[in-house]
Amino acid sequence: MTSKPIFLYKSDPVRGRLWAEVFHRQAPHIDFRIWPDIGDAERVRYLAAWVPPPDLAHQFPNLELLFSSGAGVDQFDFSVLPPALPVVRMVEPGIVQGMVEYVTHAVLDLHRDMPRYRRQQREQCWQPLQVRTAAERRVGVLGLGSLGTAVLQQLRSLGFDCAGWSRTPHEIEGVPCHAGPEGLPAFLARTEILICLLPLTEATQGLLNASLFAQLPPGASLVQVGRGPQLVEADLLAALASGQLAEACLDVTDPEPLPAGHPFWTHPHIRLTPHIASMTQPLSAAEVVLDNLLRHATGAPLLGLVDRQRGY
Ligand code: GLV
Repeated sequence: MTSKPIFLYKSDPVRGRLWAEVFHRQAPHIDFRIWPDIGDAERVRYLAAWVPPPDLAHQFPNLELLFSSGAGVDQFDFSVLPPALPVVRMVEPGIVQGMVEYVTHAVLDLHRDMPRYRRQQREQCWQPLQVRTAAERRVGVLGLGSLGTAVLQQLRSLGFDCAGWSRTPHEIEGVPCHAGPEGLPAFLARTEILICLLPLTEATQGLLNASLFAQLPPGASLVQVGRGPQLVEADLLAALASGQLAEACLDVTDPEPLPAGHPFWTHPHIRLTPHIASMTQPLSAAEVVLDNLLRHATGAPLLGLVDRQRGY
């Protein structure tokens, strides 16, 4: 009988098999298992899940760490998790790179008026528009965690006039950063392409609403890569109808998928993608998780540890 600790993976099994390869190679002292093959429940010490199974404390009495298999933890119901169980968000290079690619693509698309050219093509209209330089385009990112920071660094390197906003003060080289409710109006007033990379919390639910849109310069655009419930749908439709907003690129909605016939599906100024902006990359994620297991074993601070009060 083995007494190896079990690392249980409960998410997409195809990606789980790639995690397993990294664990077998680099951590043979750990018994890596993919749900529902849980093995001896008493030996389960670590769990990586998108949605954890119910009744964790009873099912896995020796669980020491819970990892989210994604960047967000809003899908966890903290009220049913053991209060002292450390919860860790996925902060890994693959997910960061994916988000940088998606947002850069969306910003360049908006900056170079591609939504308008796509509409013009459908109308067989050949109509050049003024080309503005990146330095003349003011781009702003809401949320300055590892994703928001990496996105701003990339956009800055492309020459955009960048700014950031977050709940608490942050510093990013070469990027003016605003903080707190008092810093929001000045940030919004200068932002022509707004990118939302905020986590879903009570404070960010419904944040993308009419009052926020009204503070942007007329004709601004939105790139929503946060979470669906942050956006007030009716307010987006009204802002697009009035021209206060020109375009919206949405990777997240509420619910996902949107119901058939929802106005976003066919809106000429909305681009929808099915929550694919970024995904955890199994190979780099497993490396980061192994590093965190080592940190846990040696008492070092965990990377991506969730502050339950804060909600992310
Ligand atoms: C995706 O949205 C994630 O949280 O990884």
